[in-house]
Amino acid sequence: MMNTDKKHKILFVCLGNICRSPAAEEILRVIARESGKNWEIDSAGTYSGHKGELPDRRMYAAARKRGYNLTHRARPVSIADFIDFDIIMAMDDDNYETLRKMAPDIKSEDKVVRIRDFFNKERNDTYVPDPYYSGADGFEYVLDLLEEACGNIVSSDFNACGI
Ligand code: 4NP
Repeated sequence: MMNTDKKHKILFVCLGNICRSPAAEEILRVIARESGKNWEIDSAGTYSGHKGELPDRRMYAAARKRGYNLTHRARPVSIADFIDFDIIMAMDDDNYETLRKMAPDIKSEDKVVRIRDFFNKERNDTYVPDPYYSGADGFEYVLDLLEEACGNIVSSDFNACGI
């Protein structure tokens, strides 16, 4: 049975919350809305050094070209997030381990999943690579992965990660 009507609350998490997770947040928001789903979607970072900043201008520009308007302000993950959200989705294994350790109890630890569970099966990628120190190609690649994963999230309604 697919839980298609459930109003999911999803938090995407990366390191700085200025490249990968704010892009994931907006991409999922757009794709979910197009599918008639009224989900609550936000993003945060495991590192607080960019708190209050808009997305990195390179990610902003790359996303804008694909029609996504990134307006999120960076913020660190909080303990309250483990209560407020149903699904906390890590971009890479470092984020995943940090979030698992941060979780205040077993129930909230189980909310932490990896976005790679939603990559197309034929992919060899196991995480969304950090584009911060990469060139323009890195940002395009991140957006390709995120569009693919978010499409799979919406079409599977989270069944790939057992939630
Ligand atoms: P993000 O990228 O985790 O996708 O937002 C990064 C942004 C900033 C830094 C690292 C990664 N940083 O080291 O400041």
